[in-house]
Amino acid sequence: MALIWSILKVLCLNATLVLLVLTYEFYHLRESFIRYAPALSDPSQTMRAAQFRVPGEPKVIQVEVIPRPKCCEPTQVLIKTGTGGLNPVDFKMRRNPQISATRALPVVSGYDFSGQVQQIGEKVLGFKPGDTVYGMLPLQGQSWGAFQEYIVTNYSIIAHVPSKISAREAAGLPLVGLTSLHALAPVLRAWQREGDSSKGKKILIHAGAGGVGSFAIQYCKNVLGMYVATTASSGKADLVKSLGADEVVDYKTTKFEDALRGFDVVLDTVTQEYEERTLSSNVLKAGGHYINVLSSDWEDNTREQNPIFIVKPFLRKWGYSLLADLLGVGVHYHCDPVQPDAQGLRSIGSWVDSGLIKPVVDRFFGLDQVDKAHEYLEQGHATGKVLIEIGTITE
Ligand SMILES: NC(=O)c1ccc[n+]([C@@H]2O[C@H](COP(=O)([O-])OP(=O)(O)OC[C@H]3O[C@@H](n4cnc5c(N)ncnc54)[C@H](OP(=O)(O)O)[C@@H]3O)[C@@H](O)[C@H]2O)c1
Ligand SMILES: *[C@@H]1O[C@H](CO)[C@@H](O)[C@H](O)[C@H]1NC(C)=O
Repeated sequence: MALIWSILKVLCLNATLVLLVLTYEFYHLRESFIRYAPALSDPSQTMRAAQFRVPGEPKVIQVEVIPRPKCCEPTQVLIKTGTGGLNPVDFKMRRNPQISATRALPVVSGYDFSGQVQQIGEKVLGFKPGDTVYGMLPLQGQSWGAFQEYIVTNYSIIAHVPSKISAREAAGLPLVGLTSLHALAPVLRAWQREGDSSKGKKILIHAGAGGVGSFAIQYCKNVLGMYVATTASSGKADLVKSLGADEVVDYKTTKFEDALRGFDVVLDTVTQEYEERTLSSNVLKAGGHYINVLSSDWEDNTREQNPIFIVKPFLRKWGYSLLADLLGVGVHYHCDPVQPDAQGLRSIGSWVDSGLIKPVVDRFFGLDQVDKAHEYLEQGHATGKVLIEIGTITE
């Protein structure tokens, strides 16, 4: 009887801890998603936008003429969109039957953009009409998107386009760049606490030729001075080496866990396939850092809609890291989804301008081909960024 009672008490304590952790994590996620008020609409003016009214196949996306966002609350700017950047999160949102729980339908596709400031609110600092800017919109909480001719957004999430590159190319940088920064940030902090630095540390970056990978390789190699290994199919080995990869594993012929061991960090952009394989191998050394960026398959499947998919990483983050911190057992585990961040964009801009990072562009699609662009990215074999041409701006 006493034994059963103590087991019950332990279970109850566990359930309470799990609930606390999840409440904490999801509270912060929600905060970061809804911090920026969506713009109101101005029915007296219209624009073209690539949007969908119901979730589903790429063909649900249609170009429609809709009211423009209204300009401007005191901290908002009106931007004429030049170029949009596509990311896997765009097709994951589009195909998610539960999308209406997080974004009001119809939803305009796209988060990444660059364009030209047209008007500013009275409290906007640092921007004026005519400036070319880039940024990523908050992932949730509004139906506006990047693939529309005019964007109204808080000036606190945009930055000036780096002067070394065109606004067109810059449109692909925000989400993947900020993902790389935000993913590595807790690892850099941990090293700093230990009086250590990133110099010479070994990182494995999966899908090195993809949007995140092509940025993260350059960031880790050229900005942080790390040793970089990456997975890519053979045809893309030269590209990832030119971006700074020291070692390339052809994932089609070699299992990365057989070829690599003793790494300090793994940045995992192929979680559904690679997470368990990484954690149960010697790829990471004891006390190393596993980074989950909540990636899921390119191919449509029901796994990414399973609540466990979103809950598990946050529980692991706490479980693994407590063990690693308190008992020195196993590896640290991180999961910190990307959010808008103007300071981060300014850092990215400075690295672009000093030649440490360059945009990698796969191809452009027109605003009326956003469905085709989704279809292309969803095949999972893009090389660098897929961009959307939306309007012409003068630079
Ligand atoms: N939570 C967040 O904050 C966050 C932020 C950004 C991205 N993500 C997620 O991270 C993932 C990657 O994003 P991305 O923008 O880099 O995607 P992407 O641009 O579509 O990546 C395409 C690349 O992935 C490679 N690839 C496909 N299968 C692979 C495999 N099994 N092993 C190694 N490489 C493989 C392809 O190379 P081959 O052509 O050689 O196959 C291709 O070059 C997505 O799931 C995305 O949703 C999450
Ligand atoms: C703009 O951003 C600031 C700082 O992040 C925030 O305090 C403010 O509420 C935001 N305003 C709107 C209209 O989103």
